[in-house]
Amino acid sequence: MELIRRIHLMREIAREARGRGKKIGLVPTMGALHDGHLYLVRRARELCDLVVVSVFVNPTQFGANEDFDRYPSDLTRDADLCVQEGVDYLFSPSAEEMYPPGFRTYVEVEGLSQVFEGASRPGHFRGVATVVLKLFNIVRPHFSFFGQKDGQQVIVVRRMIRDLNLEVELVVCPTQRDADGLALSSRNAYLSPEERAAATCLYRALERARELVEEQGDGPCDARKIEAAMREVIESEPLARLDYLAITDAETLERLDVVDRQALVALAVWIGETRLIDNVILSPKKTRQPGAEGEQP
Ligand code: PAF
Repeated sequence: MELIRRIHLMREIAREARGRGKKIGLVPTMGALHDGHLYLVRRARELCDLVVVSVFVNPTQFGANEDFDRYPSDLTRDADLCVQEGVDYLFSPSAEEMYPPGFRTYVEVEGLSQVFEGASRPGHFRGVATVVLKLFNIVRPHFSFFGQKDGQQVIVVRRMIRDLNLEVELVVCPTQRDADGLALSSRNAYLSPEERAAATCLYRALERARELVEEQGDGPCDARKIEAAMREVIESEPLARLDYLAITDAETLERLDVVDRQALVALAVWIGETRLIDNVILSPKKTRQPGAEGEQP
């Protein structure tokens, strides 16, 4: 495996690989790799000839009072993991090269970027869309691998790919969880043992939503009833504070009154000083498709 720090070198490698007819897979990350990332890498290894993992803590997707300065980072450990997983290139450019003085161009996926996660973190998805498009242009992947854990990010990136006619296929992989259901996230490292125990309330709330939809069988399920039940789970946890709860159309992010189609059920919760997100995709029985909650190529 080779560590590539410069954009022009990465571009050259991608150009040469494409020239040889190789299928390139990109796993974009901000580092602090965990098993959730490694799942994406393994999928990339299965589907592609050449696997590139990018590690770049993207400053433009963090708000002024967010955790950019303390975001966990350990490139040596990330590189070791990439070697173990058979990654070909670890691309980790500097912020100076990605955003040189005079940088002025941003990508805005209108509407989808301003609600829920975007309302709580203004500018976040503008930063995500911008850096993801830059990474696509540099690495020129045939496939790019994202985790369902960042459900709204997947929707925003998918829309950008369609709207800008990008020639890359999004492969969405299921959220990886600890045994007690907590979704794997680099930010879990911020949690104290008490907070770590409390953090399972996100998964418990989502499981409650799943139960209610299951109980409803074929019929549409009242979204407000699901929200109330989820709220109850979060509010019963003293260390937790709900930021938002969203039950929306899984593609358009339009808020649903009844779950009568594939729905994204998403939430953000503060556990102490740490903000965690999680989601599931649910559908009433009669609209359920095989693999709806798993990988969506
Ligand atoms: O999901 C992430 O880690 C980041 O948002 C991404 C896609 C690498 C862009 O910085």
